[in-house]
Amino acid sequence: RDARPFKNTTRFLMIQNDPFPVDDCLFADTFSQDTVYTLCGQDLKIRQVFGANLGVAAPVWEAAIQLCCFFEDESVDLRGKRIIELGAGTGVVGILAALLLISNSLKGLIYLSGAAVTLTDLPLALPQLQANVSANIPLGGWPVSLPTVLPLSWGEDQMKFPSDWDLVLCADIIYLPETYPLLVETLAHLCKSRGLVYLSSKMRKEHGTQHFYEDYLPERFNVELLKHEENQNINIYRASLK
Ligand SMILES: C[S@@+](CC[C@H](N)C(=O)[O-])C[C@H]1O[C@@H](n2cnc3c(N)ncnc32)[C@H](O)[C@@H]1O
Repeated sequence: RDARPFKNTTRFLMIQNDPFPVDDCLFADTFSQDTVYTLCGQDLKIRQVFGANLGVAAPVWEAAIQLCCFFEDESVDLRGKRIIELGAGTGVVGILAALLLISNSLKGLIYLSGAAVTLTDLPLALPQLQANVSANIPLGGWPVSLPTVLPLSWGEDQMKFPSDWDLVLCADIIYLPETYPLLVETLAHLCKSRGLVYLSSKMRKEHGTQHFYEDYLPERFNVELLKHEENQNINIYRASLK
């Protein structure tokens, strides 16, 4: 659960190949920060690319970390499941699900036993997502399959995706009220074959997050509050199509 840097902050310069002599920070409009997150006993190398117009897609949000910890604490079985993550940002949740470290204390074994994961976000966030998938290739290869990275804009692209996911994962994506009906429509399509949705949300008053869970989502889904994390005001919900 600790987050520690595994490399110093890397700085990329806009004019990297330009012969003009530049100071390390001069003209830099983008910099990336590489961090190792240890979650569920698994080290994840996550790059956050700041200043590249990624906006909120750049950082790892606390709700994502809380969702990973919830999976560990509650021993949620993700093994072999078909999983899609919406608004994946850095991909920390989905990549963890694809890798999942399992320890069998009886046999004294520790092995990888992940899920088949599709990570989605808006097109501008996909290079960061792809870089993070590539940074976490296990030595023996992905336990189930290489995580797929695809564009999925809520309310626009969901029909390009199948409806038979086991799980849909959402971390801190309930913050744009204009997208709430689009998200419900997207989730309803993805869960037609009785898939479950796990949503982890920072409950921001200014974004009407509570409103999404009390008014929008219950129109189509049965919604259960699984956990309230007091300090960060983060709620974790599970939803299933009515
Ligand atoms: C607050 S960030 C959360 C990122 C990541 N899930 C996390 O918790 O670290 C919200 C994410 O939703 C994505 N997003 C915003 N609007 C979207 C839309 N209309 N369709 C798809 N993704 C969207 C953003 O690009 C961003 O990656």
